Amino acid sequence: MSALFSAFTLKNVTLRNRIAIPPMCQYSAADGFSNDWHLSHYAGLARGGAGLVIVEATAVSPEGRITPACLGLWRDEQIEGLARIAAAIKAAGAIPGIQIGHAGRKASANRPWEGDDHIPADDPRAWQTLSPSPIAFGANLPRVPKEMSLADIARVTGDFAAAARRARAAGFEWLELHFAHGYLAQSFFSPHANQRSDAYGGEHAGRARFLLETLAAVRENWPEDLPLTARFGVIEYDGRDEQTLADSIQLASEFRAGGLDLLNVSVGFSTPTAQVPWGPAFLAPIAERVRRETGLPVASSWGVDAAQHAERVIAEGQMDLVMIGRAMLANPHYPYELAKQLGVARPSWVLPAPYAHWLERYSLQS
Ligand SMILES: Cc1cc2nc3c(=O)[nH]c(=O)nc-3n(C[C@H](O)[C@H](O)[C@H](O)COP(=O)(O)O)c2cc1C
Repeated sequence: MSALFSAFTLKNVTLRNRIAIPPMCQYSAADGFSNDWHLSHYAGLARGGAGLVIVEATAVSPEGRITPACLGLWRDEQIEGLARIAAAIKAAGAIPGIQIGHAGRKASANRPWEGDDHIPADDPRAWQTLSPSPIAFGANLPRVPKEMSLADIARVTGDFAAAARRARAAGFEWLELHFAHGYLAQSFFSPHANQRSDAYGGEHAGRARFLLETLAAVRENWPEDLPLTARFGVIEYDGRDEQTLADSIQLASEFRAGGLDLLNVSVGFSTPTAQVPWGPAFLAPIAERVRRETGLPVASSWGVDAAQHAERVIAEGQMDLVMIGRAMLANPHYPYELAKQLGVARPSWVLPAPYAHWLERYSLQS
């Protein structure tokens, strides 16, 4: 019996297995609207057999997009296209999830394959970026952001709540708040980006305030019986890791008290000088620590795609869900490969019937 292919229930939602597709930006939208690319991409991923498919970082406001081609949920008109995507994911047997976020000082950038850098300020496609303090990320993202006023903060918190309401209206059953990767929320928590001296900066309570207030605002706009989750970078790999981890674990416990149902454990990416120890499943022990010390269910990604790794982190209780990204881009039927490698009985049945029937016949005859 494979642990990876066991069901997982959170609130009123049951995933058919522990494989989740993490949010992965497609940089293929216009004015925040989804299109046929997104529909076929997400339907294809869901048909691969994962239990959960999380739609890419979707901006809560126009200035919260990473690039001009990112998805958005800041207008009611954007609901319809996403509703078709949620329905297609659901029809394929997966739970439809979506990540909502604000890119903060990393916004107003070119697509990764078109430079991955800030759009020059004099380009009409560029916009004013926002952050807790007027400090640039650096490296390829040198633009100095505007220091957010209290009114800016209140507006963005409200934007998250409104986007959550629209996500539900679109039919999503799993919400992930993007509190990671050096974007706006992570920037509030990180001393690399937040040097405010008001109620939103300074010690832990100040740096945590924006994230906890945003969680609270979303909690009121997202059904109690559906999973409300967040992705958060618990470690920066900047030489202060033990302190950052302890601080992050405290915040994760506060998230739990504030109604969060699961944490997608990731890296902070708040500084371009981080020394990330890339390698297979390098975050797994950290995810396990967050899970143990907070009591929150956790998911994580970053190279947890080899069959034995994915099986082990679930079987040993390091994670509740395994997020598999790039391997799914390379092969949308990757869960079928995992099922075969793990000796799951009738592995073809992770696929839709019009595929599974024929694969089963071939395997019987060959
Ligand atoms: C094309 C691409 C787009 C991504 N976009 C997002 C995103 O929208 N939100 C996010 O939190 N992470 C994003 N990520 C990170 C992935 O969710 C995931 O954590 C990463 O790919 C590591 O998992 P893997 O080793 O299984 O690929 C992206 C990664 C890729 C490859």
